[in-house]
Amino acid sequence: MIRFEHVTKRYADGTTAVDDLSFEVAEGELVTLVGPSGCGKTTTMKMVNRLIEPTGGRILLDGDDISAVDPVRLRRRIGYVIQQVGLFPHKTVLENTATVPHLLGWKRGKGRDRAAELLDLVGLDPSVYGDRYPDQLSGGQRQRVGVARALAADPPVLLMDEPFGAVDPVVRERLQNEFLKLQAQVRKTVLFVTHDIEEAVRLGDRIAVYGQGRIEQFDSPATVLGAPATPYVADFVGADRGLKRLSVTPIEESDLDQPPVVHLDDPLTAATDRLRAEGARWAVVLDGRDNLHGWIPADATASPDATGTVREHARRMEAWLPLGAPLKQAFATMLQHDAGWIAVIDEESEGRFLGVLTPARLHEALRRSIDADAQHVPRAEVAVETVARAATA
Ligand SMILES: Nc1ncnc2c1ncn2[C@@H]1O[C@H](COP(=O)(O)OP(=O)(O)O)[C@@H](O)[C@H]1O
Ligand SMILES: [Mg+2]
Repeated sequence: MIRFEHVTKRYADGTTAVDDLSFEVAEGELVTLVGPSGCGKTTTMKMVNRLIEPTGGRILLDGDDISAVDPVRLRRRIGYVIQQVGLFPHKTVLENTATVPHLLGWKRGKGRDRAAELLDLVGLDPSVYGDRYPDQLSGGQRQRVGVARALAADPPVLLMDEPFGAVDPVVRERLQNEFLKLQAQVRKTVLFVTHDIEEAVRLGDRIAVYGQGRIEQFDSPATVLGAPATPYVADFVGADRGLKRLSVTPIEESDLDQPPVVHLDDPLTAATDRLRAEGARWAVVLDGRDNLHGWIPADATASPDATGTVREHARRMEAWLPLGAPLKQAFATMLQHDAGWIAVIDEESEGRFLGVLTPARLHEALRRSIDADAQHVPRAEVAVETVARAATA
């Protein structure tokens, strides 16, 4: 969809901002360009909509050399979102969003309908926010309007230059999540510039890691984190890349332990027997539909005057996650609940209990994930023993 062929940009003062760059972005793909300030990200992006002209090489959009396309017509096919959103202060949110349809000569009603639809899509109720002015919005809301405006004419390509860079980290994470949901619906071809490796990892189908004017590595987030191509990339993704990998490695069924399980209506004596038989200190407690209720410690069942059913002695368990959630979230949940384990449930089947994740299993999963990526094999096929040996070798 977007193809760079040996593209170079040398500014008049002799600065080489981009040096012989070649890469391709597939249709519907979201590629993040990440690297330190001054490495040529913005220059790369602005060459796509011809705000900057390359000094060498060529850029193809859908097979067409863009140097032969009229810039104004080119930009109609390309949405552009920047950090300082650049909303018109004297226009309402709805008018701002309808800017491009208006420029394209759409009928006023159609443009406004489209704008309202887009505001809805980015989570701003048009009946509440449509008539406000930009200075009556929070920073995060302004960024949402910027995204809505860029999408209004339904361009196939979206360029986003540090769009969430100016908002605080909590709002940024929310905007990122909303944007991912939105992208799942609209499937634009997106070039997304950021200097934040976390953001690049969270959003990108693939990541281009920039050094000075060049791409050092162009790969999936997991590969960039797990198998950095050069010492520069390893350094950029950070010495704590194992921790960063936590956010891209999902909990798999094979990561789970199977503790003893009892049910709410079981007699307490049955629970005692189960725990004894398995030598366990606690059991998971499920309800009649095999959904998670909580847990029961062995000492609650062991006292001689313990009677009745499990129900009277069970404790609720708040630390649980669905299968597929990132390990990082599992780690955070453990810390938050000060829990020695978390329960994992299957959201697909109305919350059926699947097993528990312990810190040890989490660590194993992480090591296996890093090693699998270095070897390019599925995680489940790497034996932890091998990983452990490799780590100590
Ligand atoms: N108009 C310009 N004239 C001269 N040098 C420029 C100009 N714009 C950017 N540069 C330089 O080109 C390099 C890349 O800049 P830029 O693409 O903005 O980087 P990034 O977006 O990664 O921070 C930097 O060294 C910057 O100083
Ligand atoms: Mg920049």
